Amino acid sequence: MAKVKAIRGMNDILPSATPAWQYLERQVKSVLSSYGYDEIRMPIVEQTDLFKRSIGEVTDIVEKEMYTFEDRNGESLTLRPEGTAGCVRAGEEHGLLFNQTQRLWYQGPMFRYEKPQKGRYRQFHQIGVETFGMSSADIDAEVIMLSARLWKKLGILDAVSLQLNSLGSTDSRQKYKQDLVDYLTQYFDQLDEDSQRRLKSNPLRVLDSKSESTQAILADAPILSEYLDDDSKEHFSRLTGLLDDAGIHYEINTRLVRGLDYYCKTVFEWVTDKLGAQGTVCAGGRYDGLVQQLGGKATPGVGFAMGIERLVLLLETLGAVPDSEKNSFDLYVAAQSREVQGDVVQFSEALRDAIPGLRIRTHCAGLKNINNKARQTGARLILLIQKSDAGLVGVLWTGADSSEQIPLEELPVVVAQQWEVIKKS
Ligand code: HAM
Repeated sequence: MAKVKAIRGMNDILPSATPAWQYLERQVKSVLSSYGYDEIRMPIVEQTDLFKRSIGEVTDIVEKEMYTFEDRNGESLTLRPEGTAGCVRAGEEHGLLFNQTQRLWYQGPMFRYEKPQKGRYRQFHQIGVETFGMSSADIDAEVIMLSARLWKKLGILDAVSLQLNSLGSTDSRQKYKQDLVDYLTQYFDQLDEDSQRRLKSNPLRVLDSKSESTQAILADAPILSEYLDDDSKEHFSRLTGLLDDAGIHYEINTRLVRGLDYYCKTVFEWVTDKLGAQGTVCAGGRYDGLVQQLGGKATPGVGFAMGIERLVLLLETLGAVPDSEKNSFDLYVAAQSREVQGDVVQFSEALRDAIPGLRIRTHCAGLKNINNKARQTGARLILLIQKSDAGLVGVLWTGADSSEQIPLEELPVVVAQQWEVIKKS
């Protein structure tokens, strides 16, 4: 019978890969906690309307990438394509937003029906940050500094660069949109097909076009930064000042508009040239209108989300996952004959009590060639239990083989000492 396979673009994350994921997740959580962010967990499925009203009807995500279905009640539901909308919905529903400040983070799978390729999947994972109730550029700077600190901690700061732009207020963008449409309409026939469509539905997205001929036309197009209102200009200049003072390098990219409609003022992306076409590892911006758009009281917001698959790929490409993270255990304990197998299971328990933190894997399978099998595990410590005339003893290998027999009662101390030596080496 044919075997059932995983859905295209939805990947299993195998045991060989999970240590890198766990390492990354641990580093992110430690940085988030050092900034006082609180975790929030939202459902994976939401009402379809939530995404239409927040991300925007005329965006790639809503037009062609959502996994939308009717449940048994005929209600239209969607697998979340991103986390910001659900976070705002949850914050509003539970009274976390009005007249308060919040610094929240979440993690989990997101779903987009995109064409799968390296770094682009249909189920992918994000860790996202959303802050609420703070309108000054200080918080825009904080979330960028937080991400920069993370890259530094992960040893990938030199491999990523920051692209920054301001989209201004809705009003200033409206005037810009009109002038952009007027300009591009003159060259309509020379635009690529996607841009022709976007010119009518979502003209700012034409700026994102990958087509060289469209980019050539855009070279003389009106520039968004020249349309910014005073408040947005001041906001942007405070942000860039704070980043300058913090020594965070950025490139102002006046074409950066992002693919979701809820942004205003600051938008940013951390990009790398090490992963090919899907080089944006983290992206976000300010969304002061979103809470109100979803029925709440006006509440400013800023956030970003990082793509975990892309960051893991980058860490692996750069060899930035420490070797110690790749081992799932430190000590392998095995019996050298069947009669002591039960003792080994019990003794492993005693060792776990005696040496908290030591990761112990006990051999529970056949004993043929046990010495080789133990060696092949790659454990940094190997303990072989055997019966001697004097009772149970252990032989401890720390790198090279040894034949010294250590009485069972002395082993917890000896193993603990050897473990300390290994950790320091
Ligand atoms: P986004 O730019 O759509 O923004 O996604 C953020 C990040 O998720 C991307 O930079 C990328 O690393 C990763 N990503 C997106 N799509 C895929 C995919 N198909 N496969 C693999 N990785 C992917 C948002 O989602 C916003 N909610 C970010 C935000 C939070 N803005 C404000 N707050």
